[in-house]
Amino acid sequence: MLVWPHCSRRVVHSVRTGDLAAIVTRSSTRERRRFISSGTNDANNENNGAIEKNEKPFYVTTPIFYVNAAPHIGHLYSMVLADTFKRWQQFIGKDSFLLTGTDEHGMKVQQAADKVEKPVKQFCDETSQLFKHLATTANISSDRFIRTTDEDHREAVQKLWTTLLEKGYIYKGKHEGWYSVSDETFYPESQINRVFDQASGVTKVYSTETGKEVEWASEENYFFALSRMREPLLEFYKSRLSDSFVFPYSQFKVIIDSVEGGLSDLSISRPSSRFTWGIPVPGDDSQTIYVWLDALANYISAAGYGQLSSNEFKKSMWPADIHVVGKDITRFHCIYWPAFLLAADLPLPKHVVVHSHWLMNGTKMSKSGGNIVDPHAVMAIAGVDSVRYYLLRHNILEGDGDFDTEKVLERRQADLVFKYSNLVSRTCSKSFSIELALSHTLKGYPVSHTRQDKFLAFQSGLIAEANSLVDNVAKHMDNFNPTGALREIWDVLKKANQYVDYATPWNTAPGNISPTIFVMAEMCRIVSIVLQPFLPTYSGKALDKLSVSADRRSAEYAKFEADMTYGKDANLPNRHHVVERLN
Ligand code: MSP
Repeated sequence: MLVWPHCSRRVVHSVRTGDLAAIVTRSSTRERRRFISSGTNDANNENNGAIEKNEKPFYVTTPIFYVNAAPHIGHLYSMVLADTFKRWQQFIGKDSFLLTGTDEHGMKVQQAADKVEKPVKQFCDETSQLFKHLATTANISSDRFIRTTDEDHREAVQKLWTTLLEKGYIYKGKHEGWYSVSDETFYPESQINRVFDQASGVTKVYSTETGKEVEWASEENYFFALSRMREPLLEFYKSRLSDSFVFPYSQFKVIIDSVEGGLSDLSISRPSSRFTWGIPVPGDDSQTIYVWLDALANYISAAGYGQLSSNEFKKSMWPADIHVVGKDITRFHCIYWPAFLLAADLPLPKHVVVHSHWLMNGTKMSKSGGNIVDPHAVMAIAGVDSVRYYLLRHNILEGDGDFDTEKVLERRQADLVFKYSNLVSRTCSKSFSIELALSHTLKGYPVSHTRQDKFLAFQSGLIAEANSLVDNVAKHMDNFNPTGALREIWDVLKKANQYVDYATPWNTAPGNISPTIFVMAEMCRIVSIVLQPFLPTYSGKALDKLSVSADRRSAEYAKFEADMTYGKDANLPNRHHVVERLN
């Protein structure tokens, strides 16, 4: 019996991405079976739709966001990237589950609440709501919004702790070191830098890695025997070198080198006298569990770890297929997290996809840097999908990128309005009829008999490219590369626009126009179908405008002549564009 929480489904199913021919329609009722509660929270409704079947859902996660400050564009990027991976899997027919949420414990959050003189739980409720609101506004298709203050998460963290203890990986000891509240981590002496401040006459100490201030801490803590995990980790990395446990490889290499260099045991609790805003160590209230152990466990909490028996958990949606993380938190996800899981005898995630950072004026966008872009403001000006497009079109998996609101608008105009929306508007012009063009085609209307060979060759090339679009996009998505995927789609759009200029349907005699309108309509339909995981709103609007029925928008319909039932009323006078022009 297989068990997992409610996840998003489509009515098509494919074995794997590269095998799109294998997509088959299946009944949506067939897969909905018995519900077993596995810790879904209010965002996802208890007892509402866990399903049971033979293949686990594709499980994608974002990092959970600190609630010490409001969200910015960098946070939105993590969400959009993960959302696109999830929507893509759904598109090719896999049940998928997207987890996002907030990281609410720790000194950093406690101090932020103290600063504004609010009770810490109330402060968390309010800021968590900002992230939830961002996810909703940006059309992030999350299946659960987890909070580390959720009861089922607390139970999962305590269970993980107890398991690690029982397996002999936790011991108590004295700990001295430099702690950064901002990074919520200790740094060794070799990774700190002392700077004398002339004005105050005080020497301040900083992390060389993040530039964040650190403070000396000397205390009794519990430790995790991370040093014992060096060999198992290296063995694991070796076994997953070729299938990218960490992507891109440059990031994987840094992790491997770091583990090869040796690992020290990790402090995984702090005295409750220093901070209480966290989950107490089971059986020892004088200690609070380290925020990163707490936070990382969210990925298994959402799969029911604290609620299900170990046999049931084995059949849950864990392990995650993709953890999306920023490059500043790779050590936690690629060393500590697999080490905890290996020690607890739990399966390891399939991939950690690491992205670089959005910069503003050359430095990392962050609240503490005072250089943040408010995602709501940009979305209000440009529209949600235009921001999604800009973020995805830049390959910041490879390196940092400067965020520029002007450029969001330029890209919107050049790519979305001119190349995409205009093509749909021209095709849906009231001077033409898609419906008639389809019916002529079905009746075997002579195809472009008045056209020259050169034109017909161009047309065949365009149709061939459109027919291989899903497979070409799939290759990029298999390599975690939505930027490459969008480039493929825009190559087809560029050619489709050239086709229209070449064909000049507005100068064509009405009796000869149908073959051209048919090809134009097919380009709009195919491109819009493939765009759904990336730009769900714009593509949805285009498919609605073309009157493509809801059950004919899945991957197998993204082929020339795969759907001959659309177009009704598509050419009625309608001044709405897929991407509205901005004044
Ligand atoms: N709470 C931890 C994550 C715990 S996951 C078990 C955390 N939170 S965070 O709010 O500081 O960052 C969340 C995510 O946003 C991280 O992936 C981080 O890399 C990302 N970003 C924060 N600033 C960013 C940019 N300027 N650009 C791109 N992403 C950035 O770390």
